[in-house]
Amino acid sequence: MKSFKYIERFFKYRSAIDIVSKLGKVDLKEINECYSMFVFLRNMPVYSNKDNVIVFDVGCGKRPTFSLMVAHFIKNWEFVAIDPNLEIKDYRTERLSCYKCKVEEFDFSKYTNRTKIGIYIHSHAPAINVFDYLFIMPCCIDNLPKNILGFFKIDTNIWYDKNKIYYYDLRRKV
Ligand SMILES: C[S@@+](CC[C@H](N)C(=O)[O-])C[C@H]1O[C@@H](n2cnc3c(N)ncnc32)[C@H](O)[C@@H]1O
Repeated sequence: MKSFKYIERFFKYRSAIDIVSKLGKVDLKEINECYSMFVFLRNMPVYSNKDNVIVFDVGCGKRPTFSLMVAHFIKNWEFVAIDPNLEIKDYRTERLSCYKCKVEEFDFSKYTNRTKIGIYIHSHAPAINVFDYLFIMPCCIDNLPKNILGFFKIDTNIWYDKNKIYYYDLRRKV
């Protein structure tokens, strides 16, 4: 049976209706997966970094669901959504910017002194080597980084079998 724990938690936020109206669509599966990623991220040490953090939501799809949602929950981080299929419009969200391109085409040079987190939720994009931390919920292609130690958790609150989330601290270069 599907778990609605994350959906219930999400809609308890005062900003939930605002988030959904800015996205223009209620996709419960997407909200569930994005909330799952948020729960994982929130339990990692990088979550305590207060400033200078920028999150890249790579292969977000047509809408920047994860970055728009989490920009409402974490007030001092910046968010960048990147996808060649992304619908570019005014999402009325401070600290969120959107780019309709492949991640390989994106210019990361202006973010050199920032803590960069790459978030891949069922993304088909390659895990390029620019991030300090990577969080990947793989889809049908293998885009996990090679020769680097990471770990994963299985989140049974995700509704289908693509429910593993991998974490890599790339600063260690193990
Ligand atoms: C299965 S969809 C997942 C979309 C969304 N994250 C979701 O969970 O509903 C895979 C996405 O990866 C994107 N993608 C594929 N190659 C990419 C690349 N090189 N850079 C950025 N995004 C890419 C596609 O455009 C597509 O939106």
